[in-house]
Amino acid sequence: MDVKKLRFAIFGTGFWAHFQIPGWQELEGVECVAAYNRTRAKAEKVAQKFGIPAVYDSQEELLANEALDFVDICTDVNTHLPLAKLAAERGLNIVCQKPMAPSLALSKELLAICKANDVKLFVNENFRWQAPIRKFKKILDSGAIGTPFKARVSFCSAFPVFDNQPFLAELEHFILTDIGSHVLDVCRFLFGEVQTLYCTTRRINQNIQGEDVANVVMKMRNDLTCFAEMSYASRLEKESFPQVLALVEGSRGSLALTHGYSVKTTTEAGTVAEVISPKGYDWADPEYAVVHASIVDCQYDILQGLLGGVTETTGADNLKTVELVWKSYESAAEDKLIRFG
Ligand SMILES: NC(=O)c1ccc[n+]([C@@H]2O[C@H](COP(=O)([O-])OP(=O)(O)OC[C@H]3O[C@@H](n4cnc5c(N)ncnc54)[C@H](O)[C@@H]3O)[C@@H](O)[C@H]2O)c1
Repeated sequence: MDVKKLRFAIFGTGFWAHFQIPGWQELEGVECVAAYNRTRAKAEKVAQKFGIPAVYDSQEELLANEALDFVDICTDVNTHLPLAKLAAERGLNIVCQKPMAPSLALSKELLAICKANDVKLFVNENFRWQAPIRKFKKILDSGAIGTPFKARVSFCSAFPVFDNQPFLAELEHFILTDIGSHVLDVCRFLFGEVQTLYCTTRRINQNIQGEDVANVVMKMRNDLTCFAEMSYASRLEKESFPQVLALVEGSRGSLALTHGYSVKTTTEAGTVAEVISPKGYDWADPEYAVVHASIVDCQYDILQGLLGGVTETTGADNLKTVELVWKSYESAAEDKLIRFG
């Protein structure tokens, strides 16, 4: 039977669109029918590379001409809200890159706009979909290490991230909004919601505007203490980019996610190690393999939501992560402990 595919337009054809689009193309039942970028030549290049039939440098023209089911917003953060508003007002569902907006208030406004227009909002938060992190969660939930009481979740690297994404050097708020959106979301995915939070930040690289180091200590509602550390100023013995590393201690053992996607469970009986390699895709950059593979699993989840099924990748869920990001800034600026209701 010929099932109708969901039609979407990609808004923004910069660095990440080169992975976001082929990610969608791995899935049945969805097709990219138009590409929009303010610099038309960039949209043309991407359209040619991925076989997208229509190209625009005006979002109004695109929305007037194309019959769509949703838009995928992959522009920089300041433009997410105005672009989403235009699409939502035409009744289109929204898929948006993280961070969904440049502040907590504007993130709430984005959710409100989608609600008012009765359209769905999905935030493409892909890190929790990484294969090693999914496996980690499964072992945690199996009770193999007993009751978890303490955790460290790390993203500390010296990777030259500004080479691929120069705009990151201009952000007034950098690491918490960028990688922190992912790391704090992984913490919520693994351990649930936060009760209290304390954060410190630093700027080590003097050539950028924002902070490149953040340390967040959270007491989770289940009493576990979680230390989330992130840095782009860490030259360590082993470079781990772009892996999130983790160590959880429980009443009967510990669970570690280490370099090379190795998941190690330690109990009284000893240590069992398993390597959970990401699926390989020919369009993926080997330097970002585990992240690029997770795009496909995240998009599969979003697709279920677009089709009316259950999804965990919603704007409403992601707002809780956005709140952690901005409360971390508040904590760091005022040197205070934040309590969540
Ligand atoms: N999920 C992830 O793992 C991940 C990884 C990297 C980037 N991202 C996110 O993806 C988004 C884009 O990041 P990027 O690295 O591709 O940035 P980029 O600067 O390389 O690309 C953004 C593109 O949007 C275009 N653009 C900006 N404003 C526009 C407007 N008003 N109308 C039309 N086009 C416009 C720019 O010309 C550029 O081509 C950001 O929100 C970023 O945080 C997510």
